[in-house]
Amino acid sequence: MKDIYPGLTWPKFFKGCAVEYSLIQHGTDAYEASLKLRHQILREPIGMDLFDGSYDDLSQESRFYHFGAFDENGELISSVIGIPTATHEVRIKQMVVAEGHQNQGIGKRLFMAFEAYLLNLGFQVFILHARITAHGFYLNMGYTILGDEFQEVGLPHYRMSKTFTPHPE
Ligand SMILES: CC(C)(COP(=O)(O)OP(=O)(O)OC[C@H]1O[C@@H](n2cnc3c(N)ncnc32)[C@H](O)[C@@H]1OP(=O)(O)O)[C@@H](O)C(=O)NCCC(=O)NCCS
Repeated sequence: MKDIYPGLTWPKFFKGCAVEYSLIQHGTDAYEASLKLRHQILREPIGMDLFDGSYDDLSQESRFYHFGAFDENGELISSVIGIPTATHEVRIKQMVVAEGHQNQGIGKRLFMAFEAYLLNLGFQVFILHARITAHGFYLNMGYTILGDEFQEVGLPHYRMSKTFTPHPE
């Protein structure tokens, strides 16, 4: 993988717990676990249902990239989605870390691993819609705010982006 964060150490262990980061194949048990986590963290608290088809269209998800972090028991504790939107552009969605695992650096590691994975596929422009409550996480990851605050799923959001300039070989 490209070294996009030079000098970064990459501990697999957080507070004595081993964490693995990997791609999630659509249709697997890990994918089902990611759906449950996304529902639990992002939809249930705002009175929405990921599975009822009223907002989320899960039928398209086999063409998306899914990435996850797994604890030492193989339980999914964090996940994120990438949707190709143009030749070199990808939209990142539904970044979640399970309650009890937040604020321990797991989200940051997962996000960096996912960026590196997408960069290796040739994506250079990364776009996302950040909840205002979480946008500091993306600022921390080097993303910038584009335009004004807007509403999505009844919550204030910022559109944010980050562009990687390819290094000459
Ligand atoms: C937002 C979320 C993905 C961050 O993951 P995390 O594992 O908790 O975050 P990390 O511990 O890796 O934090 C990495 C850095 O971002 C900062 N950060 C994390 N969450 C933040 C937030 N909500 N606001 C501001 N900064 C935040 C941390 O302070 C840390 O800073 P540091 O590197 O200077 O120490 C996670 O808390 C979460 O799932 N929240 C609920 C769902 C949600 O809001 N998802 C985003 C939808 S757009």
